[in-house]
Amino acid sequence: SPAHTADLVVFGGTGDLSMRKLLPALYHSDRDGRLSPETRVIAMSRGGLTDADFRGKVDAEVRDRVPVDDPAVWQRFLGRLRHVSVDVGGADASGWEALARLLAEDEQRDRVYYLASPPRTFGPFCRELREAGLVTPRSRVVLEKPLGHDLPSAQRINDEVGAIFDEHQIFRIDHYLGKETVQNLLVLRFANAFLEPIWNSLWIDHVQITAAETVGTPGRRGYYDHAGALRDMVQNHLLQLLTLTAMEPPARNDREAIRDEKVKVLQALRPIAGTEVERFTVRGQYTEADGMPGYLDEPASTPPTEASRRVETFTAIRAEIKNWRWAGVPFYLRTGKRMPYRRSEIVVQFKDVPHSIFPGGGPNRLVLRLQPEEGIELHIMAKEPGAGEVTLKPVPLSLNFGTTFTARVPEAYERLLTDVLAGNPTLFMRRDEVEAAWRWIDPILSAWESSSDLPEPYPAGTTGPAGAHELLGRSGRAWHEEE
Ligand code: BG6
Repeated sequence: SPAHTADLVVFGGTGDLSMRKLLPALYHSDRDGRLSPETRVIAMSRGGLTDADFRGKVDAEVRDRVPVDDPAVWQRFLGRLRHVSVDVGGADASGWEALARLLAEDEQRDRVYYLASPPRTFGPFCRELREAGLVTPRSRVVLEKPLGHDLPSAQRINDEVGAIFDEHQIFRIDHYLGKETVQNLLVLRFANAFLEPIWNSLWIDHVQITAAETVGTPGRRGYYDHAGALRDMVQNHLLQLLTLTAMEPPARNDREAIRDEKVKVLQALRPIAGTEVERFTVRGQYTEADGMPGYLDEPASTPPTEASRRVETFTAIRAEIKNWRWAGVPFYLRTGKRMPYRRSEIVVQFKDVPHSIFPGGGPNRLVLRLQPEEGIELHIMAKEPGAGEVTLKPVPLSLNFGTTFTARVPEAYERLLTDVLAGNPTLFMRRDEVEAAWRWIDPILSAWESSSDLPEPYPAGTTGPAGAHELLGRSGRAWHEEE
């Protein structure tokens, strides 16, 4: 059944995220009958647009990105859209008043304030909303990443937003949690009997979590110089994947039970600090190669600075979880821009057989692929057909969601927006989770910041600097694609 009627107010409503992800996701929800007929989407921006201007913009920029099979549905969707101009941080309160008038048309609706704006605006926007009397018990607020740039700034944002909204009203987005395979990981682990007994250090040799991208950072230097791969991808997305892989079975499929288990994993991460940072982490920055520009030559509105030279576009980390289940099992995390392929996956590598009676052979691997082509593969050893010597070959037992299920695989934001509108926070990060993640990240950041070394260069289009290979190589292991 469709969700409650809601007013979804998007700050940064004409920005990149809104046009590329949120509006297409909302259109899909509308098309699939998941939006109540009265639900409205109110974009807030400085733009000075009328409702008609905004609808025209969405018609021009979003229509081509979504399948419009029925023009009437598209028109219905456009009809939900409103635009309110707001003077952010300025003295002119007329925008807030206009928003208040619009929302007052129906006081009974759920209100969702989606902050798709820079994190420094989170606190001020929330205060403006309260001052305008717009925060009701049925209001929720959605915070986009990045949630701060270190632990103190994340705590400050959480305090500021927490002074106005209760924790149960705050939805912190990590769009990786909306990915189909990520939710399937929980089903795979907790709805199948055969994995749990071997999901531990007795059977598992190590885990690799990779998010490789082919894109660079054109036009993003202003953000990326001060983010880098560790803040942009590891603190949130990769650590979320790690918690879901490593968590204990929760007693119930419920928001707090699942998030409680995830926090425990983050709290059990062995800190990497001081001189250990150099041993257990690798930083890289891509350089010009094969017609692709280096990080420093990417088109940007300002020339590169010292911060640009120091920022990592690639990182690899050897993490460890200090608890009974995982003691001694390395979790290797890796992410980078301008790698040779776009691929996000979790690879669980099992130990070798205790005693091998065949020549050759190798370990079993379970691969959970988030993208492209969502799927799960279990690599097992098989005998190559033939009457001669036994020859072993790893072959995948594979499940491809796209071909196994006929239903369209929804985009991450569709799932997450549906959950926000239904008030279900299970797939959103709780305050203690975000802060526990920063607590682990901060010492790595500070060791990097105080180091005189620059990130190791790697040519654009390659799998990262030599250090990333040594990180595994020194214990006789290798990244998944290298075998
Ligand atoms: C975002 C990062 O959170 O995730 C981007 O800011 C990155 O730098 C993106 O490209 C990757 O998301 P996806 O869904 O394409 O893997």
